[in-house]
Amino acid sequence: MRYVLGVLAVVLIFVVLSVYWVSRPTPVPVNPPPPLPNSVLDQLPKERKGQVLIYGAYGFTGKGIAELASEYGIVPVLAGRNESKLKPLADSLGYDYIVLPLENNHDNLVKVLKHFEIVLHIAGPYTHTAKPMLDAVVEAGTHYVDLTGENHVIQAELDRDEEFKRANIMVMPAVGYDVVPTDCLNVYVADKISQPTQLTVVLNGSYTAAEGAQASRGTMKSGLEMLGRPLLKRENGEMVAMATPELIHRKENGREQTLLQIPWADMITSYVSTGIPNIEVFQVQEGELPPWLLRVAQSDAGRRVLGWLIDNFAPEGPPPSAQENRQTRIVSTVSNEAGATASAALITPEAYLLTFHSTLIIARRVIDGQWEPGFQTVGKVYGPDLVLEVPGVTRTDL
Ligand SMILES: NC(=O)c1ccc[n+]([C@@H]2O[C@H](COP(=O)([O-])OP(=O)(O)OC[C@H]3O[C@@H](n4cnc5c(N)ncnc54)[C@H](OP(=O)(O)O)[C@@H]3O)[C@@H](O)[C@H]2O)c1
Repeated sequence: MRYVLGVLAVVLIFVVLSVYWVSRPTPVPVNPPPPLPNSVLDQLPKERKGQVLIYGAYGFTGKGIAELASEYGIVPVLAGRNESKLKPLADSLGYDYIVLPLENNHDNLVKVLKHFEIVLHIAGPYTHTAKPMLDAVVEAGTHYVDLTGENHVIQAELDRDEEFKRANIMVMPAVGYDVVPTDCLNVYVADKISQPTQLTVVLNGSYTAAEGAQASRGTMKSGLEMLGRPLLKRENGEMVAMATPELIHRKENGREQTLLQIPWADMITSYVSTGIPNIEVFQVQEGELPPWLLRVAQSDAGRRVLGWLIDNFAPEGPPPSAQENRQTRIVSTVSNEAGATASAALITPEAYLLTFHSTLIIARRVIDGQWEPGFQTVGKVYGPDLVLEVPGVTRTDL
C-alpha cells in the first residue's frame, strides 16, 4: 500500500510540474535580436513592386498557400521564426526565405518589409501575432492581409483605419474561409432588397462529409482565444455581449438540425461591407463543447495548457483526401422593415483548400494594383463575385 501511495505521489508531482511547465507564458526576449546584416538584406528583392512575403509559411495553412503560389504567378519569399522548419520548405519549393521573429523585432521587420509590396500574414493565433506585424507594415508602407477570425483582433485593426490610410496601405483581415465566402455572399444578398436591417448567415461545414480533421492546430488555438472572451453579436449597429449562444432547432430536408450561434467575423467585416445593423451567424452543430473546456479556456494558463495539448496531440489539419472531397454550404438571408427578404447559397470546397486559393487570389489583385487604402473588407473592395474565382464555388439564389 505504501508503495502504491508513493508511486501515486510521484505521478501527481510529475503531473503538477508538467502542467506548471506548459502553462508558463513564453518569455518575450528582453533585448531585440541584433540588426539583420546587409548580407541578408541584400538577398531580398531590390524592387518591391509585385513582391510577396508569406509570414508563417511553414504552418499548415502557410505551407498550403506557398505550395499553390506559382499557380497565381506569384514567386513569394517565405518567412517565419524557425529556420529548421522554414529552410526545408523553401528548398523544396525553390523559394528564398528569411528567418524573422516577430516579438521585440520591429526594426528588422520594417527593414525586411520595405522589400515587399504585400505581406500575407499567416502566423496565428493573431491575438499574439497581429500587432507587431501591423506596426511594421505601417512604417514600411507594405500592404497586409491575414487570416484572422479573432473578432477582437479585427476590431483592433478597424480602429487603426486612419493610421493605415495615412500610410497609404491596405489592411484586409480574414481573407480565408472566414470570411471570403460569407462576406461575398452577404454583399450579394444585401444588394437584392432596399435598406436591409437583418442579416443571418448559416454555415454547414460538412455539407459533403469527409473523414479527417476539420480544423488545423492554429485554428483550434485561435478558437481558444475566442472562447476566452465574451460572446458578442451585432445588434442595432453595436457589438453587444450575450450571456449564452442562441440555439435554433429546425428541420431541413426532413432531418432535425440544431443551429448554434457562433462569433464569426462577419459581425464586423460584413457590417463594414454592407452596413446592415443586425448580424447573426450560426453553424450546423456537429457536436457539443464540453463545459469544462469553456471554463479552462477562460484563463491564460488554461489556454496555454490546451494549446500545448493541441500542438502535441491534434492532427496538423485536414488531410488531402478531406480537402479534395469535403464541401461546405453557406446560406445568407437578409430582410428589411418592409418585410422583404432575399436568400442565396454558396457551395464551397473544403475550408482550408478555399483559404489557400482565396488568399492568393487577393494577393494577386493587390499586386495587380487593385487595392484601397485603410482597413478594407473583401466584399466591399472586390465585390460579391470574387469568391466565384475560387475553383469549385457555386452560387444559387433561393
Ligand atoms: N480565416 C480562415 O478561414 C483561416 C483558415 C486557415 C487558418 N487560419 C488562421 O491562420 C492561422 C495559422 O493557421 P495554421 O493552420 O497555419 O496553424 P499552424 O499550423 O499551427 O501554424 C501556425 C504558424 O504560425 C506561427 N506562429 C505562431 N505564433 C507565432 C509567433 N508568436 N511568432 C512567429 N510565428 C508564430 C507558427 O510558427 P512556429 O511553429 O514557429 O510556432 C506557424 O508557422 C491561425 O490563426 C488560424 O486560425 C484562418
